[in-house]
Amino acid sequence: MVATTLATTCCLALSSILPGLVSHPNSFIYNSSQQSYWALQEVNVSPSCIVSPKTAQHVSLAVKALSALGTCKFAVHSGGHTPFAGSANVASGVTIDLAKLDQITLCGNKTSVAVGPGQKWGSVYSKLQPLGLAVAGGRAASIGVGGLTLGGGTFYFASLQGLTCDNVLSFEVVLADGRIVTASASSNADLFVALKGGSNNFGIVTTFTFRTFVLGGIWAGDVIYPLSTAGDNIKAFAGFVTAPDFDEKASLMQTFGYAAGFSAIVNALVYAEPVVNPPALQIFTGVQPQLSSSMAVTTLNETAAALDASSPKGFYQILTSISIVTSIPTLQKVFDIWNASVPAVADIPGMVWSITTQPINNAVLAKTVAPGNSLGLPTTAPTGSFIIVELAATWSDAGDSVFVTAAANQLMANIKDAAKALGSFNRYIDLNHATTGQDPIAGYGSESKTKLLAASMKYDPKGVFQALVPGGFKLN
Ligand SMILES: Cc1cc2nc3c(=O)[nH]c(=O)nc-3n(C[C@H](O)[C@H](O)[C@H](O)COP(=O)(O)OP(=O)(O)OC[C@H]3O[C@@H](n4cnc5c(N)ncnc54)[C@H](O)[C@@H]3O)c2cc1C
Ligand SMILES: *[C@@H]1O[C@H](CO)[C@@H](O)[C@H](O)[C@H]1NC(C)=O
Ligand SMILES: *[C@@H]1O[C@H](CO)[C@@H](O)[C@H](O)[C@H]1NC(C)=O
Ligand SMILES: *[C@@H]1O[C@H](CO)[C@@H](O)[C@H](O)[C@H]1NC(C)=O
Ligand SMILES: *[C@@H]1O[C@H](CO)[C@@H](O)[C@H](O)[C@H]1NC(C)=O
Repeated sequence: MVATTLATTCCLALSSILPGLVSHPNSFIYNSSQQSYWALQEVNVSPSCIVSPKTAQHVSLAVKALSALGTCKFAVHSGGHTPFAGSANVASGVTIDLAKLDQITLCGNKTSVAVGPGQKWGSVYSKLQPLGLAVAGGRAASIGVGGLTLGGGTFYFASLQGLTCDNVLSFEVVLADGRIVTASASSNADLFVALKGGSNNFGIVTTFTFRTFVLGGIWAGDVIYPLSTAGDNIKAFAGFVTAPDFDEKASLMQTFGYAAGFSAIVNALVYAEPVVNPPALQIFTGVQPQLSSSMAVTTLNETAAALDASSPKGFYQILTSISIVTSIPTLQKVFDIWNASVPAVADIPGMVWSITTQPINNAVLAKTVAPGNSLGLPTTAPTGSFIIVELAATWSDAGDSVFVTAAANQLMANIKDAAKALGSFNRYIDLNHATTGQDPIAGYGSESKTKLLAASMKYDPKGVFQALVPGGFKLN
């Protein structure tokens, strides 16, 4: 109750500083902001009020006031796609919803684009599509530009372009004291590096300027196989990841999935040219038997929209991951452990229960640009290559949450144990695919973490983003 009373005071103060931009429970704007989160766990967190800034100046005024008051928790909400409660929302606190910071502005010669954190990747792709351009963003259309970029960001064409954070030319960021600064290779470079992986620990980013790249049509879709192909598909996956003549235009995510009474293996294949069945992907298109294939010449924005359609809003969700180095026996173990886990959850209403593996190969790591990022990954071949192993669980009823969460934790613990036993466990935990209780920043390694703590001391000496912004993954 104390928190609620304090938050009421903060909300009143903010209403007088930002008239018309603060909304309260049961209002239309408050409700729409709450409904814009992807997972019900976030929808169900009720802030005392929501601030909807329209400019960086508004964000500055809000942060300055919240820092000065020093008593209210606040949250930073971009696309709202993180599933766990309190990542981008805060009970009995103030949520800053960045939705109205929604610019997509190409620079004169089209080599870069300035994007607001209120934007979603699908809209960015749709805007750039007619110009034959793209940005290395996220795979699903409704993911926010803010969270994904600050957490690293894996992408269909990461092998060609690098991780999303490595495609940022500059950030405009509001610091704890309300200053609006630029972080780039030439200005506040330590903050620039910190923001690439440091999530919401340093300030609120109000503009992301990304490098664009040329992209026309692509060949993309899902090939679906019965579980009997597991061995062949795992061999294909490992062969693809370790191919010495790796074709950087090719991309893959492999899923072992259960939904609606049915289990299957899905290869989500993408190629950065409108070429049907390119040699680099034949290692997968050749695996038989197949149940179906949606492979077609299409565009990035249509592919991102299709992924979105298969992961709709309005459900309870868990997304969690570990990482491993490439090993056929470990991948086979991952499959067996997942398959054995299905019967226990199969009858839960709305259940989708899948393990997806996505490679972060040497081509991705080699695209890291100076002065680097905070992920603590090796950037030179051949040492770095690894695989993110992520569990995605979806269900309909709150009453099943305790059971599903326990089953998810058990499944991931079993996978981790198997990877350790086979000597292929990797310390890196991808922040964008981590859940509450995991510590992706520790996974960056001590060298990276030391630099992050130093940047926090320098740019947020009072620790506002540590103490007052509890959501997401903190430095301590
Ligand atoms: C179907 C699906 C597909 C996905 N595909 C990918 C993928 O291809 N690649 C990938 O990397 N990840 C992927 N993800 C994970 C996704 O990137 C993360 O959930 C990401 O954090 C979402 O970003 P958001 O802005 O929508 O989230 P939010 O929940 O709004 O924000 C996430 C975190 O970032 C902080 N934050 C957001 N914006 C700012 C800002 N401007 N300044 C400071 N802090 C901020 C928030 O406070 C919060 O803690 C996928 C998830 C799903 C469910
Ligand atoms: C907002 O949502 C609440 C709770 O669901 C509801 O009672 C209220 O009528 C809604 N308000 C508006 C303006 O839609
Ligand atoms: C495009 O414009 C930017 C900023 O004005 C400049 O730095 C860059 O060199 C230009 N690039 C080309 C290819 O003209
Ligand atoms: C993709 O972009 C094109 C060009 O802007 C647009 O016409 C189309 O509607 C977009 N498709 C989706 C699914 O957003
Ligand atoms: C998956 O598990 C089921 C039991 O739930 C078993 O019948 C089947 O053989 C397993 N499939 C594979 C490919 O291991």
